Amino acid sequence: MAPTIVLDELTPRQIVDELDKYVIGQHQAKRAVAVALRNRIRRQKLPPEIAQDVLPKNILMIGSTGVGKTEIARRLARMSSSPFIKIEASKFTEVGYVGRDVESMIRELTEIAVDMSRQTAFEEVKERAEKNVEEKILDILLPATNSFYYAGSTDSFGSEPPPTNRTREKLREQLNRGEIDDRIIEIETQDRSNTMIDFVGGQGMEEMGVNLRDMFGNLFPNKTVKRRIKVSQAKTFLMRDELENLVDMEQITRNAVEKTQSSGIIFLDEIDKVAGRESGMGPDVSREGVQRDLLPIIEGTTVNTRYGMVNTEHILFIAAGAFHVSKPSDLIPELQGRFPIRVELESLSLDDFKQILIQPKNSLIKQYQALLSTEGIRLEFSEEAITALAEMAVSINRTTEDIGARRLHTLLEKLLEEISFIGGELLEKNQTIDEKYVKEKLDCLANDEDLRQYIL
Ligand SMILES: Nc1ncnc2c1ncn2[C@@H]1O[C@H](COP(=O)(O)OP(=O)(O)OP(=O)(O)O)[C@@H](O)[C@H]1O
Ligand SMILES: [Mg+2]
Repeated sequence: MAPTIVLDELTPRQIVDELDKYVIGQHQAKRAVAVALRNRIRRQKLPPEIAQDVLPKNILMIGSTGVGKTEIARRLARMSSSPFIKIEASKFTEVGYVGRDVESMIRELTEIAVDMSRQTAFEEVKERAEKNVEEKILDILLPATNSFYYAGSTDSFGSEPPPTNRTREKLREQLNRGEIDDRIIEIETQDRSNTMIDFVGGQGMEEMGVNLRDMFGNLFPNKTVKRRIKVSQAKTFLMRDELENLVDMEQITRNAVEKTQSSGIIFLDEIDKVAGRESGMGPDVSREGVQRDLLPIIEGTTVNTRYGMVNTEHILFIAAGAFHVSKPSDLIPELQGRFPIRVELESLSLDDFKQILIQPKNSLIKQYQALLSTEGIRLEFSEEAITALAEMAVSINRTTEDIGARRLHTLLEKLLEEISFIGGELLEKNQTIDEKYVKEKLDCLANDEDLRQYIL
């Protein structure tokens, strides 16, 4: 797993600093999420009587397309040690209609929490599991009959360690050096083919709150199967068995449910797509229905998951939408009331565009540089070229449609098309993009109204 920064230990200022590495500007939004996150940690330190009443202050992020709403969520998710999901509100359908009902997001969030808890638990017992696997493989390589035979005749060796021990130790060294990785051995391992129940359960039946494993658990007892495989593969199989044997799955699920309830975060993207109250026919009916279904979950209800009941009262919701056609006031009033904190994301300026190109840790330019470097090409941009690109983005956004920083993606793709195509076959390995190159490649497109609309 990638090293995660432990969000729980970060102050709001540090959270903002962390976000600053990836998202340019949008200080108000960053501050709002940082405070909301920190408040949950503060809440957990309160005596239970007070903590119970401190509800999360859900956030509504409003800002036009391509200004960083989803990007903020994406970054939070990466640095978060809390269960986190990002989900498009437009994916849901009203309960009773065919499709995904809103409660499924709580089930998914719990599933993520269980995965996280399981990983942490596995980490804790990893060393012990490795040791056990090593012994098991050695037992297979040196069957017990052998050691019994020698064990019976230890006397004749005096104080010398019996040869089995020596053989075993020698084998152990070879095993650890990977020298017998290719030897074939026969192992007994858990039969995982009936994880099918998990699969079916997770995908379909669980949506109805039916837990197939509970219903049919005894019909599919855990079986073991024999496999003849290489030592290297056996390590993987046995390791999984050992890890699962050593952890307490019940404890894990209990922790996970607790974690979901007290620190889960749900990012509801595209919330504007379910706005619209005009009564009538067609999808709108369902949209308002989705909003109504969301209410209890945001307000606090219990949802039945395969890991038990999950209370949603303290889950933090961050909703985001462009609200181009609809307005936040088009959401049903009850739902508006559930998002007391509203932050507006600013539209991006020329200067922001310049920074977005170069500054973020994985900025577009850095991505292209990395891609081309795999073929030995060193790609550089002059400052004037960056400015020219940013200016172009601003001007095209103004004259056609404002798609925010996404414009930079299309511009850069066109700009570097030729270099990307020729790639490693370029004779000149040092490629510097200057202002002239930008103008040459893009001016004709940018100045032609038809081309501009379709290509950039
Ligand atoms: N403030 C920003 N800082 C850095 N990169 C940004 C910023 N805003 C947008 N981007 C870039 O533009 C792309 C689109 O941004 P994002 O997905 O956050 O848009 P959005 O605000 O969610 O828009 P939409 O309403 O269309 O979903 C991102 O992948 C990111 O690379
Ligand atoms: Mg988005």
